[in-house]
Amino acid sequence: MQPASIAGLGSDHPLERNLALELVRVTEAAALHAARWMGRGDKEAADQAAVDAMRDALRFVDMDGIVVIGEGEKDEAPMLYIGERVGTGRPPKVDVAVDPIDGTNLTAKGLPNAITVVALAERGTMYYDPHIMYMQKIAVGPAARGAIDINAPVKDNLVRIARFMERNVEDITVVVLDRPRHEELIDEIRAAGARIKLITDGDVAGAVMAALPGDTGVDVLMGIGGTPEAVLATCALKCLHGEMQCKLWPRSKEERQKARDAGNTDLDRVLGMSDLVNSDDVFFAASGITDGEFLNGVRYRGDLAETSSIMMRARSGTIRRCETHHHLDLKRNLSSGSPYVPD
Ligand code: FBP
Repeated sequence: MQPASIAGLGSDHPLERNLALELVRVTEAAALHAARWMGRGDKEAADQAAVDAMRDALRFVDMDGIVVIGEGEKDEAPMLYIGERVGTGRPPKVDVAVDPIDGTNLTAKGLPNAITVVALAERGTMYYDPHIMYMQKIAVGPAARGAIDINAPVKDNLVRIARFMERNVEDITVVVLDRPRHEELIDEIRAAGARIKLITDGDVAGAVMAALPGDTGVDVLMGIGGTPEAVLATCALKCLHGEMQCKLWPRSKEERQKARDAGNTDLDRVLGMSDLVNSDDVFFAASGITDGEFLNGVRYRGDLAETSSIMMRARSGTIRRCETHHHLDLKRNLSSGSPYVPD
């Protein structure tokens, strides 16, 4: 008789392997290279370092991956572009979402919560609309699952979230990107009585903070942020059993028209978790670049470096944390000019 397999997957299921354990080596490599640029005021160089290291490291992951959320279209992004094949080419077939740095400005300024992120899901299951850059988002953790409705007034959402979490609205903290477009939202949150944590960048980390077990000090993410970041955050929230709802937020008639021309007819539709990632076979890994509420940034000590990461899998709900000690001298000895050394 076959031993019982984890979380209901057969041992011959193509996604039986916990790929998050392999993805963490990818995010560690990106963090190790990006964090050298912390505080140096050059976000492009930081991003390039992360992209190079991430792409190099992805070569060693046993998967047949296609980048669905990446650095952009092929013409403008020579690496990790949408449609690029990554991995060894061996099964399983997966969609890949990457954000070599979520928080390029945070990295350039040495501010908290810059992270590097990779997520995978079964092939053909990740949402992709390259025409509309932004989405309106609301995200919560497992305790408030079922409480949110992106079409309802902000106050109603906060009252329901507080009730689900058995708290008062005054005890709820909402993380919001600090942008002029959020003036009204911020007024509404304040009028409802909740607390606000404004962040200058990084709403993937914001969504993860809202949903992570333990005390990150954040309960809800609200506001408008990047469309690719919404898909990455959904991958994380699937693993964390939280909830996220989104709506496209076209900035102009032109953006609306482009999306319609590409066949996206209902731009006002509420996009739930399964619209954004239509699979439970989802894996997520992130490493800290700068210090933050849920991940430490990279520490360098001569030939040693330390990274702090999180790895998650939706089907089993397992969340792992990992502090890794890297011997940079030994890695260099193994390397042949490549920024990444398999370890
Ligand atoms: P980058 O690191 O790619 O610059 O993105 C950071 C970020 O803050 C995202 O987390 C967020 O979704 C998006 O930018 C918001 O966009 P904008 O800065 O244009 O408001």
